[in-house]
Amino acid sequence: MSRPRVYVTRRLPQPALDIIRPIADFTLWDREDVPPSRQVLLREVTQVDGLLSLLTDRIDGEVMDAAPRLRVVSNFAVGFDNIDIPAATQRRIVVTNTPEVLTETVADFAFCLMLAAARRLVEGDRYARDGKWKTWEPLLLAGQDMYRATLGLIGLGRIGSAVARRAKGFEMRVMYYDPFRREDLEQSLQIEYRPFTDVLRQADFISVHVPLSEQTRHLIGRDQFSMMKPTAVFVNTSRGPVVDQQALAEALAARRIFAAGIDVFEREPVPTDDPLLAQGNAIVAPHIASASIPTRIRMATLAAENLVAVLQGKRPPNPVNPEVLKG
Ligand code: DGY
Repeated sequence: MSRPRVYVTRRLPQPALDIIRPIADFTLWDREDVPPSRQVLLREVTQVDGLLSLLTDRIDGEVMDAAPRLRVVSNFAVGFDNIDIPAATQRRIVVTNTPEVLTETVADFAFCLMLAAARRLVEGDRYARDGKWKTWEPLLLAGQDMYRATLGLIGLGRIGSAVARRAKGFEMRVMYYDPFRREDLEQSLQIEYRPFTDVLRQADFISVHVPLSEQTRHLIGRDQFSMMKPTAVFVNTSRGPVVDQQALAEALAARRIFAAGIDVFEREPVPTDDPLLAQGNAIVAPHIASASIPTRIRMATLAAENLVAVLQGKRPPNPVNPEVLKG
């Protein structure tokens, strides 16, 4: 039997390629600055059995139809909103993702954004570098305290729970909203379930940890920002379209909330003339919440392990549509 063929949509850390090489012949999109264009993607997949994709690649029915031999799409991310799952399932293509290995790293970053936004760290950095620092002043760049404040989590999956654990070290009161109530975690993490609008109204810090779906698109918009405290710090490390970005920019400009830390955007890369970037009380990051060196290597190797497992006829560690594996 001939060796399977694979297309990898970005240069990966070497350990991941070392997992694929003994099993399959692969072609790699070799540029780091841009993903393969749609045209390149459609051309490259025609003969492949496997595809290792990134969240910047839209893998829909058209791509799948261009790849009649395709058996697996292994996404290098925990989120898989870039892939049309029903279309894959219908064509009996296995889709996999990389959960768990990035949980703690993303939770660290959500915490980092909350602290940095509350304490105006980036503003302070610019202030000092720009030569504006003339003397010590009582209220110079004064922010909000995180210690013993109330944290509101929107979404209590793996990452939300990991943020809750960190918050306990800051003696925070933690409340959460999730469509699936987790009484087991309420006990073990000492956190409280509250309806969505109560979390928005009562929390000092709000951190979003929901996947993007039709139900969560623009979950946080103008109405939701207007419910938050004027001292609230809002953080999003999930997916950009969960938040109405224009409404966020307006809330920050009007000081309806205190500050925000944003890692994900409705359009990525975020255009430099986006109103959100004009707000001094917003910290923005280029979708790097999972970007520690060990975690990104682990994500890459897990994506490779998922890919080769399917190509070898084995059950992959992280199937998203396991029904395809049956029968
Ligand atoms: C994911 O994995 O979905 C993140 O957004 C990138 O780590």
